[in-house]
Amino acid sequence: MTAPALPPELQDFSLTEMTFWTRPDAFRMKAFAAMRALDSAPFVPLQKIPMVRSKPGFYVLAKHADVLEASRNAEVFSSEPTSNSLMEMPPWAARFFGSMINMDDPRHARIRRVVSRGFSPRMLERIDQDLGVRAARIVDELIAEGPSDFVAQVAARLPVEVICHLMGIPEEHHAMILDRTNVILGYTDPEYNGMKGDPRGLTEPPRLKDVTVTSVQLVRAGHDLFRLVRRLGRDRRGGTGDDLITRLVNPNADGESLTMQEVGSFFILLVVAGNETTRNAIAHALRLLTDFPEQRELLLADFDARIAPAVEEIIRYATPVIHFRRNVTRDHDLNGTKLKKGDIVALLYTSANRDETVFPDAETFDITRSPNPHVGFGGPGPHYCLGVHLARREITVMLRELLTRLPDVRATGDHDRLASFFINGIKRMPFTFTPPG
Ligand code: HEM
Repeated sequence: MTAPALPPELQDFSLTEMTFWTRPDAFRMKAFAAMRALDSAPFVPLQKIPMVRSKPGFYVLAKHADVLEASRNAEVFSSEPTSNSLMEMPPWAARFFGSMINMDDPRHARIRRVVSRGFSPRMLERIDQDLGVRAARIVDELIAEGPSDFVAQVAARLPVEVICHLMGIPEEHHAMILDRTNVILGYTDPEYNGMKGDPRGLTEPPRLKDVTVTSVQLVRAGHDLFRLVRRLGRDRRGGTGDDLITRLVNPNADGESLTMQEVGSFFILLVVAGNETTRNAIAHALRLLTDFPEQRELLLADFDARIAPAVEEIIRYATPVIHFRRNVTRDHDLNGTKLKKGDIVALLYTSANRDETVFPDAETFDITRSPNPHVGFGGPGPHYCLGVHLARREITVMLRELLTRLPDVRATGDHDRLASFFINGIKRMPFTFTPPG
């Protein structure tokens, strides 16, 4: 069977090239709007990359209704063999990155049941007290240092500290963890994939040499994280500590525990899923509150009453996770798109969150929006974000500390965007504030 051609409406957007993902929001949103206007989901061809197996292309689910159905119907829209890469995952990568996010039930359900206990309301309540103290320290240090890069000085700090605290990872490893998660999620960005300074970095398909360099970096990053957690896990077998590693390697009340392999790949999932996403949400929050000063005033006028809907709107508008993949298990008609067994689809959350048939004035950033059925944490279904409550708390606490102590804090100039089809990332962002009194 020959793959369907890219519809003429989308020909001008260079969708298969990495440059598309570094273009300004307005350009990309035009492409997504054109996709939503089509009767059926467009098929986008995948660039051939040496040594990497891949399908000829993927269907883009750009409409809110399609994303919802694919998230709910996990029997037809499977997360196996992988949900977080459009390319097929080689066996060496599956060892590190093959956690429950890439599994269907019942394998997925078993791991999710065991790890969910670490995210119970009781556990989160305990962390909550600690969050305020950490956020206050981050702002204290910021005031002492003065503003330079918002991502490094503010946005990146709380998420990594919190996850490491949850897992019981000593502080001396935090910098290594941050560095390795950058490599894992930034593998399409020349700054992290070894092609920095190479003018071909973004515009041309990678060569065999490039793929080799990137693969080695990825293995190294996965291996470093895996080795750290395996060592801590071994030390904590039989222990009674309250951290997540101790809880996962020792049987719970139902006699369930995870194998060392499962703990290792879950840890990688957690640091990657919990760090980069929340970090980017916090960075986007400052960018949005700078670009829309009337929304910032509204928020500051009654922070406690408005912060909850504001966080949801930040997630909708910024959509830190651009897409996840699903694998079609049998022939299926998805609201007019005829899918075949073996096809792959990308659930394009970024586009679903701007769907004009669901969100009135979808292009307007409105912190009072209600209802706000965004899919920034995924659609309803078995893989809905495990860290949703934690992420909301982290963003709330960080913004409260920042905006109440430094009310004129704002982004200045252009931010550096991550070249990625997966994470809507901000690598660096200049900013300013008037130091208090
Ligand atoms: C703003 C922050 C966050 C965003 C936008 C976000 C987004 C998402 C999305 C879209 C999914 C769905 C994946 C799918 O359907 O296949 C997901 C799953 C997941 N998220 Fe989050 N996330 C955030 C924060 C966190 C945090 C803080 C943690 C943990 C500490 C976390 C842990 C997870 C895990 C473990 C899964 C996989 C769940 C499963 O497969 O059952 N996330 N997240």
